[in-house]
Amino acid sequence: MDLVTDQNLKIQRYTWDIIDTNTYLVLEENKALVIDPVDSADLFEAINAVDQIDVILTHSHFDHICGLNKLRSIKHDVRVIATSECSVNIGSIYRNMSSAAEAFLTFYYQNKGIEADISSMVARIGTFTCEPADMTFDENMEFAWCNHSFELIRCFGHSNDSLIALLDGKYLFSGDTLLNIPTTTRFIGGSTAKFWDKDYPMLKGMSSSVEIVFPGHGEAGSISDMLSVNVMPERYRGKDSKN
Ligand SMILES: [Fe+2]
Repeated sequence: MDLVTDQNLKIQRYTWDIIDTNTYLVLEENKALVIDPVDSADLFEAINAVDQIDVILTHSHFDHICGLNKLRSIKHDVRVIATSECSVNIGSIYRNMSSAAEAFLTFYYQNKGIEADISSMVARIGTFTCEPADMTFDENMEFAWCNHSFELIRCFGHSNDSLIALLDGKYLFSGDTLLNIPTTTRFIGGSTAKFWDKDYPMLKGMSSSVEIVFPGHGEAGSISDMLSVNVMPERYRGKDSKN
């Protein structure tokens, strides 16, 4: 289950059973850092013995925060870190898209060609909100965790409240900003123009230093592979474009 074991550091993955959204659990000593808590009994069991929990939200969409309320209810010492916009958006059923879960799941399962009992899944998710984050930032934020460094960088393509998290300069938790499939920019607050103008060049600049990308959905992989599935639309190709 450990994706990475790096001296005392462990990185584990827990995937939601409704959509293939990933939670990453970073463990060292008796501390845990949770990236995008999904509603997973295995995750809650894994953090049971941990004293101190930090949570990073890569963005506000319901599939990435569906375990946050439970996590806060079972553990007292939880500190949630997010962009300022994300902190606001998780408090709205419309902004966190839980109000649109039925449409989202219908599309998701149709796309996969799988028949699923959507209504029971929607009933399980419900429309929900979360209390604001405990620590927010607007553009970038750095913090020390155990003996490690985290750099949080705001992103703009997938949503207006996204971040990516870089651990020790080499492990990148990319949320839905970078996946094994082209980045979705059509949800409310997303921007194809900003993805190509801001996110893509920034990610490209990290290509040589990032060793592994841990995406919000799907398998971990290389940053160059994930960048290469995104093809710049003709209308964004300026004379300076290197893509
Ligand atoms: Fe998303």
